[in-house]
Amino acid sequence: MRAGTVIMGALTLLLASTAHADDGYRLWLRAPASATAATATATAPAPASATVSLLGGSATLRLAADELARALPAGVAVTVATGADPSLAALRLPFARLGDEGYLVRRVTLHGQPTLLVAGNTDRGALYGAFALLRHLATGGTAADASLVSAPKVKLRVLNHWDNLDGTVERGYAGTSLWDWWSLPDLKDPRYVDYARANASIGINGTVLNNVNAKADSLTPRYIEKAAALADVFRPWGIKVYLSARFSAPIELGGLKTADPRDPAVAAWWKAKADEIYRAIPDFGGFLVKANSEGQPGPRDYGASHADGANMLAAAVRPHGGIVMWRAFVYADTDPEDRAKQAYTEFKPLDGTFADNVLVQVKNGAIDFQPREPFHPLFGAMPKTPLVMEFQVTKEYLGFATHLAYLGPLFEETLAARTGRGRETVASVVDGSSEGHRLTGMAGVANIGRDRDWSGSTFNQANWYVFGRMAWDPTLAAQPIAREWAQQTFGTDRRVVDTAVAMMMGSREAVVDYTGAFGLAHLMATGHHYGPGPWVDDLKRPEWNPVYYHKADRDGIGFDRTRTGSNAVAQYAPPVARRFADPRTTPERDLLWFHHVGWDRRMASGRTLWEDLVAHYDRGVAYVGDMRRQWDGVRAAVDAERWEKTATDLAVQEREARWWRDASLAYWMSVNGRALPAGAAAPEHDLAWYKAQHFAYVPGHHD
Ligand code: GCU
Repeated sequence: MRAGTVIMGALTLLLASTAHADDGYRLWLRAPASATAATATATAPAPASATVSLLGGSATLRLAADELARALPAGVAVTVATGADPSLAALRLPFARLGDEGYLVRRVTLHGQPTLLVAGNTDRGALYGAFALLRHLATGGTAADASLVSAPKVKLRVLNHWDNLDGTVERGYAGTSLWDWWSLPDLKDPRYVDYARANASIGINGTVLNNVNAKADSLTPRYIEKAAALADVFRPWGIKVYLSARFSAPIELGGLKTADPRDPAVAAWWKAKADEIYRAIPDFGGFLVKANSEGQPGPRDYGASHADGANMLAAAVRPHGGIVMWRAFVYADTDPEDRAKQAYTEFKPLDGTFADNVLVQVKNGAIDFQPREPFHPLFGAMPKTPLVMEFQVTKEYLGFATHLAYLGPLFEETLAARTGRGRETVASVVDGSSEGHRLTGMAGVANIGRDRDWSGSTFNQANWYVFGRMAWDPTLAAQPIAREWAQQTFGTDRRVVDTAVAMMMGSREAVVDYTGAFGLAHLMATGHHYGPGPWVDDLKRPEWNPVYYHKADRDGIGFDRTRTGSNAVAQYAPPVARRFADPRTTPERDLLWFHHVGWDRRMASGRTLWEDLVAHYDRGVAYVGDMRRQWDGVRAAVDAERWEKTATDLAVQEREARWWRDASLAYWMSVNGRALPAGAAAPEHDLAWYKAQHFAYVPGHHD
């Protein structure tokens, strides 16, 4: 009896405390969704519902109506419709501008009744309209002033999951894979619905389920069935499924002797495979391919070109309306050329030779998702080929899930860059407006896993969010997106929102500062990429060693990519090439990416490069300290669970930022023989100590 009372008491306590807890499951969507999401808000009273009418009966339209019914206040009358409905014809609304995914939200009178109309030409458009209306309301708008119209500028807005079939995630820092491959297709985890809903809310319309380092198994009947089960869940949310294809699958699965794309038997194998996939997934999106890169098989193994490979696969999916996203992330161990130049050298000559259902997918920079890279020279260099922008949402090089680094400014900086061809920007290449491409795409390497908060931290959710928003419109700015995310995530308390946005906006620059400013890159430890390793010089491929990238010596530091060096600058259009060729006109933020300069070089700050570099390390560390203080200031206004987790992460980030600074400075001093500028703190340990740090079982890395 007594024990029972104690247990009851403990249970009540638990329930009472979870009532105030928020585990972040609901992301930026605060209205409860599926059964799983509802557990996070079990104690929240159900709001009195608005009156929602439907013109049309598809599953997608019903989802749109459900979203609105759950979130809109009572008394609001809403109609969800597709433009095809005859009762809308007389209203003269701008449906022509919406394409097949755009939306409008307008106050209209329908059948004599005032109503808020949420509509698109398609039910997907209407669904996006419903989410846009919810965003409008959550960011201070009202139903009375809702007048919205928008169409996506990019056609394929796709997440790339680097998820393995064994449940691990390459470069994943948010737990194991969301896809429970083992229990699929029978068990459909309710999280799959919530995942699709979150993506739809920001306009993402495709997902590549498996790692670009693909196993052929994902193309076997067993796994096609599993992918089909996911596709069924995602379909009503407007999301198509894609698969990463292993180029040698005809050998591994088909028993062929070759995977040469010019061999008719190989082409026939892929055609039959595509037919089989489309029988299971009629709206299958197509293939993503990493070929001849980091050990992956590809057409070059047979002396064929990337275009030969891509076009062969494109022919297989073409009858079904599928597409191929062929990655340009290539660099060969046999090629002594500057790694930053290799993708351009390989792909630029192929411009104009790709089939019209092929897109070439290019990382934002020429190396590999570093905290800062100049835009990839292929943007603007392949006018006849649609180029997909590939950003990494998971922060492999920006502190994993732990560090708070809002990627909006990184995305914006890249997309806003001018290519040097007239007024062209990277965004106008990606959205197709520059060359009139209709097939366009943006890809984000997902930061999503089975962690309860999906992304490993609350603030990482903002990176998923901003990717979706910028894929919808690559000309959007990072700051307003941060704000709308914070309002939806933390509520409308102005102080919390202002604080979150202020923390976020400088956070990526802080990572640049404490890992190495002025265009330094690829300075991390080997393999797992956790922490600093600028001294590493013993890996078998030269371009895997940090010393290859910084080229620091007693006199100076930086990679000479001008005519006296690798001449990578010549890969940019002339006005940009000229600017990058001269250290005086190169933006300081990219200086050491393009130039090897002396430690005593005078910088814009008036300090020498060495002094300035040290100042930037200190500034980066200090920024994290500031974020901690700012976050402390809103403690009372944020729910305890999300506040605590963030505060803990920030403490770790400060410790690791200092580690980066100290280890890097200890190393640079060993190279340049200089003392620290007056007032700069000495590294906590000597260089040998930093070099001796070894880490096993680092998340996201699997030997
Ligand atoms: C990086 C990353 C790899 C990944 C590769 C890619 O090099 O470290 O894990 O496979 O990018 O984009 O293909």
